[in-house]
Parts: sequence; structure tokens; C-alpha cells
Amino acid sequence: ESQGTIIVEGKSYPTDQWTNATPSILSHISKGLYTRENHPLYITRKLIESQFPGPTYGNYTEKNPVVTTAQNFDVLGFPLDHPGRSRTDTYYVNEKTVLRTHTSAHQAEYFRRMAEENAKEDGYTVAADVYRRDAIDRSHYPVFHQMEGARLWKRTPGMTASESAARILEDVKKLPTHDVEVEDPNPVTHPERNPLQADYHSQEEVDAVVAHLKRNLELLVVRIFSEASKASQDSGSPPEPLKIRWIEGYFPFTSPSYELEVFWQGDWLEVVGCGVIKQELLNNSGVPDRIGWAFGLGLERIAMLLFEIPDIRLFWSQDSRFLSQFRNDKIVRFQPFSKHPECYKDVAFWLSSAATSGTGASAAGGAISFHDNDMMEIVRECAKDIVEDVKLVDEFVHPKTGRKSLCYRINYRSLEHTLTNKEVNVVHEQVRQTLVESRPGERTM
Ligand code: PHE
Repeated sequence: ESQGTIIVEGKSYPTDQWTNATPSILSHISKGLYTRENHPLYITRKLIESQFPGPTYGNYTEKNPVVTTAQNFDVLGFPLDHPGRSRTDTYYVNEKTVLRTHTSAHQAEYFRRMAEENAKEDGYTVAADVYRRDAIDRSHYPVFHQMEGARLWKRTPGMTASESAARILEDVKKLPTHDVEVEDPNPVTHPERNPLQADYHSQEEVDAVVAHLKRNLELLVVRIFSEASKASQDSGSPPEPLKIRWIEGYFPFTSPSYELEVFWQGDWLEVVGCGVIKQELLNNSGVPDRIGWAFGLGLERIAMLLFEIPDIRLFWSQDSRFLSQFRNDKIVRFQPFSKHPECYKDVAFWLSSAATSGTGASAAGGAISFHDNDMMEIVRECAKDIVEDVKLVDEFVHPKTGRKSLCYRINYRSLEHTLTNKEVNVVHEQVRQTLVESRPGERTM
């Protein structure tokens, strides 16, 4: 297979049969949207950072998205069969190197830095671009941005668990309060998924860490939504009361784990994942004497709420009708410019018999060698940003041969101009050609 190299941020990486990072994905690296003044992702990052100020917290960014599979998965305790590791979900540079799928890939480095003798901070935030193979629709884009934060407390030699808990509770008392109703402030956590790390922690200590974590994240969400509601009231909409709730979560590197949800336009929306950091991770990162929490969130999701931005592709827009609307010092509601008409086209194809045999699982199920995400990648490569969404609309198994065919509907729409039929036909023909050449189902892509 391809014996080449991929160059990122001036470093070169050999490719191998694991490589699946495409040219259009690689072309997004280094754009640094979250570092551009007056960009909505920059404004969102700064708003979140302001909730985690110095001297306790340092606020950082990580430019290079290339990390090892050890950093992205192993160190964080991802099991070997975790779906996140599969080539259908993750962009591999080569077998041992990926484009990070989350900012948690940097946790261990940051903890190690906090262990240094001259380290002054007990916490941090880090913002960065992350990469995931996924469906194509208005709220998913294969490159997006996350922000992560953590806070640690040192247990000095001889300190009992109760003393440690009491000290953390002192810090909880120093935090501001808020008056937003929390629907389920203390959801039950299940010991199968979120056991007490009894070798290292007492319940009392964990309760204190969780109290500190929850209050901080509640305050963060209250701040974000009060900004959002000011912006929409400025543009004439009636105020909407904020409703939030906690639910149990699951992450390989925290226990217990939680998610914070916000009731927004009729639905509960997950906005933050978080938990008490697994002690093994801290032990392996040079800080065995500390206990603490971590959280992670997606910047686009929050920015879409904050500014009422309807399509995730807009964040990448160079169009001044988009960029000129935002200013660092004030959150304003996005004023949509005219939406150009859509143009959808279907494409149907047979899978090779190898892919059809056996499981009978749907293309989306991932059990066979043609995955929905393989389709997404092909469309992404050919259509770049003129595709709005892609859906599987039909699946057919021939009763005699057992061969399977799939039909996808591709919805083309540009954010910037009206597409001509001719223009779309050229792109659609390219999708068809690429599909034929890729011999869908014959090998994993
Ligand atoms: N990395 C997690 C994700 O991408 C979020 C997370 C970060 C959860 C830190 C817990 C602690 O979903």
C-alpha cells in the first residue's frame, strides 16, 4: 500500500496501511480558528477561559493535532476493542499515530507539568482542534474544537482523607453560587461503570471533588446561557428560563463520570462531559499525591447556541457576511444571510459479495467492511464544503444472489453561492467515479 509521508506542522510521518487521513482533512490543520480575534470560536473560548482564571488555572492551546495512539487511547485506559480506536471512526496518520480525537490526549502531559517543582498552577484549560470521522449533517464536521479543563489538589504526607475532603470543601465555599434550578443535582452512579476508586479515595473526598466540579460547571453554563439570552433579547426574542440537569456519564479515564445537560429549544442537550480523574492516570503521570476532576466540551456546540449559528460549516467560512458579524467584546445573535437553494442527488451501488455475505448488518452497523463513514469520506473529498448532509435512504438485498445495494441521498448546498446544476453534476459524477474505484465493501477504507 501507499508508502509515502504526511507532513504536519513541519514534521513528517511515514504512512502505512492504517493511513486514512485524507488531503481535505489535512488541509484544515493549522487554520487555528480558535486563535483568530473576533471569530465566534475564539470568543467562545475566551468566555470559557474567563471562568477558569489564574493564578489557579493556566489557559493553553495545542497547535499540533498529531498524537500517538498511546496518548489518545492507551494512557487514558481505552480498552483495545473500544470503537473509538477503529479506522471507521478515527483518522490514522499511521498505525501508531492519529489526529487526536479529543483534547484529553494531552491530559497526562499537563499533569506531568503540574508535578514540576516550579509549577504554580493547580489547574488548566486547553483548547484545540480535534478530528473524527462521522456523519455529514448541519451539526457534524470532521474537524471541530474542544476545550478541556482540570483541577488537582495535593494531599500532603500524613493528611487524612477527611482532612483532604475538608480542604476541598473550603474551596467549594469560596465559589460563587447561582439561582438556576438543577433538575437532578445528584444522579445515581452505577458501580459497574462508575465505581468508587476505593484503593485510593474515600467517599467523603470524592463527594467534595464532585461538589467542586459540579458547581464550577453549573456556573459556566449559567454564564454562557445568560450571555446567549442577552443576545437573543437584544434581537427581540422573549427570555427563556434556563433549565439544567446532571446525568451519569461514562469515560474510561474518570470515575464517577457525569454529563451536564441543558434544556434548549425543546430538547435536553448534552454540553459537558466530566468526572473524577482515575487515580491510575494521575499515578502514571507523576502526580500520585493528587486528586482532582476534569471536564471536556465541544466549542462549536456551545458557539452554535450562543450565537444561534445554524450550520457548522459556517465556522470555516471566509465570507465577510459571516465574519464581520462578530466582535470580541459582545455576544450578538447571528443574522443569517440568504440561504442558497439546495440540490439533492441520489447514488445507488452494489456492494461486492464479500461485504454482503455473513452478518447482514446495515452499512451503518459497522460490522461489514463498508461503513457509513466510508461513504461520508468519499463525499467529503469530492464535494468539500458544498455538501450539507448525506443519508442512507434505501438498502436492498437481492433475494437470489444475496448481494446488497445501498442508496444514499446527498444534499448539496453552498453557504456562499447558488449552485448550478452543471456544477453539482460534475461533483456528483466524481462521487460516483470514486465509489466505483473504491470497490465498496471489498476492503476497509
Ligand atoms: N474527552 C471526552 C470526550 O471527548 C470529554 C471528557 C473530558 C470527559 C474530560 C471527561 C473528562 O467526549
